Amino acid sequence: MQIQPLSSQDFYKQTPPNSNVWGLEKDRALIGHCLAQNIHSSSAKAAWELLDFQVDDAWCGKGYGTYFFKQLLRTLGSDLAVWVSVPEAPGFFARFGFVPDGQTRCAANGEVLRRLVRWQEPQINALSIAHDFLTARVRPGSFVIDATAGRGRDTAFLCRLTGPTGRVLAIDIQQEAVDATTALLRQKGYEDFAQAVCASHADLDQFALPGTVDAVMFNLGYLPGGDHSLFTESYISLPAIQKALNLLRPGGVMTVCIYHGGPQGEEEKDALLPFLESLDPQRYTVLVTGFPNRTGCWPIPVCIIKHHA
Ligand SMILES: C[S@@+](CC[C@H](N)C(=O)[O-])C[C@H]1O[C@@H](n2cnc3c(N)ncnc32)[C@H](O)[C@@H]1O
Repeated sequence: MQIQPLSSQDFYKQTPPNSNVWGLEKDRALIGHCLAQNIHSSSAKAAWELLDFQVDDAWCGKGYGTYFFKQLLRTLGSDLAVWVSVPEAPGFFARFGFVPDGQTRCAANGEVLRRLVRWQEPQINALSIAHDFLTARVRPGSFVIDATAGRGRDTAFLCRLTGPTGRVLAIDIQQEAVDATTALLRQKGYEDFAQAVCASHADLDQFALPGTVDAVMFNLGYLPGGDHSLFTESYISLPAIQKALNLLRPGGVMTVCIYHGGPQGEEEKDALLPFLESLDPQRYTVLVTGFPNRTGCWPIPVCIIKHHA
């Protein structure tokens, strides 16, 4: 699955100046496309405006739109504005930090459109909290484990923290994730000190000795852009977290990002939170962060410091 620039003539009769078209390709078929215009306007505080965004009906409601949109945000890499019809709830876009900026306009068909904007200010979410927590504590030369490698972005982040004098081990149960992570490590030049292996975090204790690991990261859920039925599951992740706690050295740290949007995630949250919250306070400090005034199921970041064995 990948996002790629496309020729505008294939989709639009006419496009405004400085606009680009991107498509979402899955198994060599295009399943979505979008049109964005670079408006270069610093006063408007947005460099791009998204003018059209579509995912084929057959792939709607399965997370592909979310994946496409995330990739697009990454590709555009700057402030972005979108126009949505007024009756439409900004729910989808609100999840990515878009808010109305008060501007409205009339579309050619008479429909009233409202402008939503997303500034490039760093968003606070489960992942940013986990990353900030780890950034403050993981030193060059550390030995760290990414227990859910996925597409390798967290692994690459950990590599930046440990540097080449450290060691990073990434584990994922899906070969697709291991391949993606290995490719990213190679691309970034981290392969000499970081490695991705296909294994379950249920077997974490086979990869390190107790008390030797500086940090462990769990980013639960499903593989972004992968098979959504393969979700982390509490009957595996809970004992895996127990094992990871045992592997941490005193002073070591762990983060767990709990995604709880669907039934599987809800079950995992209900099993993990009581366990994490009941950890012995003499041995661990556990921070659980919520976003009580946000709507929707915001992933929950849990940050743990181990005091002694
Ligand atoms: C939300 S993704 C991780 C995202 C990733 N850290 C990244 O930066 O792209 C969750 C990952 O956990 C993996 N996973 C599920 N069960 C697992 C298990 N028992 N052991 C290891 N990984 C597992 C999934 O295959 C999926 O790739």
